[in-house]
Amino acid sequence: MTDEALIALARAAAAKAYAPYSKFHVGCAVESVDGEVVTGANMENACYRLGVCAEQSALTAAQHRFGLDKVARIAVVGGGGDVVCTPCGGCRQAILEAAQLSGRDVEILCGSGDGSAIERHTIGELIPFGFGPANLKAID
Ligand code: THU
Repeated sequence: MTDEALIALARAAAAKAYAPYSKFHVGCAVESVDGEVVTGANMENACYRLGVCAEQSALTAAQHRFGLDKVARIAVVGGGGDVVCTPCGGCRQAILEAAQLSGRDVEILCGSGDGSAIERHTIGELIPFGFGPANLKAID
C-alpha cells in the first residue's frame, strides 16, 4: 500500500473519532507485514482522563486481527490545520512494544489534518533509548 493510501485510511478513521471535548479528531491505520490494515480513532470520555488515543485503539484492533508481532507501518492523522499529528508519549511506548515484538523499526507516517503535510519517522527516532519488552528479557 502506498503512503498516501495508508494516510487516507487514517484520515477516514479520524472521521469516526469520538472527541466532543477536545474536538481534536485523530485517526490511525496500522499495516501488517502481509499488507492487512486495521484502523482506530480517539474515543474520549466525560471523565476526561479515561480517553483512548487513536493509536491505542488501532493497535488493539491489530492485536486481534493479525498480532502485534506483525505490525510493520503506522499512519496517524489528526487535527484540522497544517501541523502534523505525531503520536503522544504513551502511544510511542505502545508502538515500541509492537516494534520490539516484530523486530522492526516500525515506520510512522504523521499527517496534518488539512492534508498539506506528511512526515516520516521511525519509532526509534520518536522514542530513542526506549524501555520495552527487550529490557525485561534478562529476568526470564
Ligand atoms: N490523541 C490521539 O488520539 N493520539 C495522539 O497521539 C495524540 C492525542 C487524542 C487524545 C485526545 O482525544 C485528543 O487527541 C486531544 O489530545
